[in-house]
Amino acid sequence: MLQVKNLAVSFGLEKPLSGVTFDVRNGETLGIVGESGSGKSLTAMSVMGLLPLIGGRITSGSISFDEQDLTKLSDQDYRKLRGGRISLITQNPMTSLDPLKRIGGQIDVVGRLHMSLSKADARKRTIDILGRLRIPDPALICERYPHQMSGGMKQRIVIAMALAANPSVILADEPTTALDVTVQAQIIQILNGLVREQNLALVLITHDMSVVAQACDKVVVMYAGRVVEQGPVAAIFGHPQHPYTRALIDCIPRSLTEGARLRGIEGTVPSVLNYPSGCPFHPRCARAEAVCGSTIPPLVAAGQTAVACHFPVETTS
Ligand SMILES: Nc1ncnc2c1ncn2[C@@H]1O[C@H](COP(=O)(O)OP(=O)(O)O)[C@@H](O)[C@H]1O
Ligand code: SF4
Ligand SMILES: [Mg+2]
Repeated sequence: MLQVKNLAVSFGLEKPLSGVTFDVRNGETLGIVGESGSGKSLTAMSVMGLLPLIGGRITSGSISFDEQDLTKLSDQDYRKLRGGRISLITQNPMTSLDPLKRIGGQIDVVGRLHMSLSKADARKRTIDILGRLRIPDPALICERYPHQMSGGMKQRIVIAMALAANPSVILADEPTTALDVTVQAQIIQILNGLVREQNLALVLITHDMSVVAQACDKVVVMYAGRVVEQGPVAAIFGHPQHPYTRALIDCIPRSLTEGARLRGIEGTVPSVLNYPSGCPFHPRCARAEAVCGSTIPPLVAAGQTAVACHFPVETTS
């Protein structure tokens, strides 16, 4: 359905993304996970055709969707696709919501634009969508303004706006990061429900491995603008082969008391201005040997999983 192959992005001389490869089908949730700065948002921006707005450009690779290569799409066709067949939900709902307009009108307009609905039909559909997102009193909510809602409710409104265009792919970039844990779980549950009920393809971007475990079928692990490991969630959690994936999994708190201590991986993600030579993870990797500092390990597929490491952790099965 949506297939990204060997995507590389540059901003002038800076090359923050390379070799980004993944696919996601209808009825499937793909997680893209990595610490802050690993290239997750730029990946989403690339798919949405938004790089030119921030001065970036795709230098190689392809993004295919419905048998067309989006990297070759005209600006006009991209505008139609964006917020139509492919929708982006971001961390901050206020980037999508207009503070001065009532909720209902903001969702109606999406349905009218993308589905050519009449005013009355658009409102009916808006109310239906809000109901499906388990928003109580949808007709009443339509009359409210964004500032009259909680963060979790605002994020649901943004999801409703995305759904109003009847998309087949939703990219959700850290949609729950700004929310508290209970609300986070509700939003994830809603998104998962939509994938099942409406056969959507969902790309769920997160820095939190426990969200991946909870919500995703497949996962792509990114580090310093590259995919370091990918595969079905069960396989990756059962037998993580990349030392970075293992470290991310080890950071998941196993109990509340452990969570309270807030574990993390030592060292920091390199910035695009100083990506290390060779394997970008080598300065933080306990398994690193000389070759790791000089040669970039290619992403090698084995069965359903793929890993980019000179010395992958052996699987036990
Ligand atoms: N507009 C930009 N110009 C240049 N570099 C950028 C720009 N946006 C992001 N980057 C760099 O690209 C890398 C990946 O960023 P990003 O995709 O935002 O990471 P994530 O979403 O995983 O936190 C970072 O090193 C960041 O500094
Ligand atoms: S290639 Fe080397 S440095 Fe990189 S993750 Fe594998 S063992 Fe560690
Ligand atoms: Mg980001």
